[in-house]
Amino acid sequence: MASFTLNGEPVSVDVSPQTPLLWVLRDHLDMTGTKFGCGIAQCGACTVHLDGAATRTCVLPVSAAEGAEIVTIEGLSADDDHPLQQAWREQQVPQCGYCQSGQIMQAADFLSRNADPDDDEITEAMAGNLCRCMAYRRIHRAVKRAAEITQAREASTAGVGVFDPARAEEVTHGQV
Ligand code: FES
Ligand code: FES
Repeated sequence: MASFTLNGEPVSVDVSPQTPLLWVLRDHLDMTGTKFGCGIAQCGACTVHLDGAATRTCVLPVSAAEGAEIVTIEGLSADDDHPLQQAWREQQVPQCGYCQSGQIMQAADFLSRNADPDDDEITEAMAGNLCRCMAYRRIHRAVKRAAEITQAREASTAGVGVFDPARAEEVTHGQV
């Protein structure tokens, strides 16, 4: 029996402890957004978050996830509104789409640790996630755009409720 939290919900699955987490997610828990590419930790298609860290599940025995918080692409955001998902749509990143959930989960972990990356940092962070459709330039642009979206959202949130005396003067005098 393996037990962990999946996208915020506790789950238990009756499988051998050696079963790769990828197949537990796909075959037993119906989380098929996470893909099988190489099976040897070389392509990144199977990337999910384990306790917040991008992790390749094709080589990870489910026993290593015991008690962990697992997040798959299905749980990245409630309404597909994670900055990366918004940026991915804006930049029309996917071609066949097969690698994309792994790319996004890798990028999400990266951006959570580096909110304002430069081009070299993005290239380095994403270098281990392969795309057979060669969508690398769009992936790179989307990661950069997601960082901008995150910063804009944070600036917008930080601005709420900030008292601006000049603005208040205009409003109270009917000038707005
Ligand atoms: S399927 Fe896991 S890294 Fe390729
Ligand atoms: S979009 Fe096809 S493998 Fe990346």
